[in-house]
Amino acid sequence: MKKILVINGPNLNLLGEREPGIYGNDTYDTLCEKLIDKAEEMGIKCEVFQSNHEGVIIDKLHSARLTFDGIVLNAGAFTHYSYAIRDAIAAIKIPVVEVHISNVFARDDFRKNSVIGPVCKGSISGFGFDSYYLAMDALAKYGVND
Ligand code: DQA
Repeated sequence: MKKILVINGPNLNLLGEREPGIYGNDTYDTLCEKLIDKAEEMGIKCEVFQSNHEGVIIDKLHSARLTFDGIVLNAGAFTHYSYAIRDAIAAIKIPVVEVHISNVFARDDFRKNSVIGPVCKGSISGFGFDSYYLAMDALAKYGVND
């Protein structure tokens, strides 16, 4: 596992402002800095990307298949209904780990279902920003394609 891409979906650019009781007070920029630091500690390269647009996320998944060894994906609300993102994950061979800052199972009913989960290598939910670090560790350990 040499190069990881972290993709953040809709509304995650508003971290720090957005529902701080659920997502915390740290900003999106802080998250990006922490992810780059974590990657450095692990001795790997990491790019962090965010988009509010489904098609842009799909394009990024497609292009990442040629240049990255694994992906950490917080698809935001797309997690719960985007079959197009699910198909994009299924179409690429590099492993994708699903992450959520909040515990999606302890929230609204619609958040309890992930349409992308079945095509991901695994899922991590509920550990704040640590969810991303756990996903990076998981990719480093289990990221080899079957
Ligand atoms: C989220 C959980 C989703 O249900 C929500 O739509 C988000 C953020 C999380 O990180 O906890 O945008 O993915």
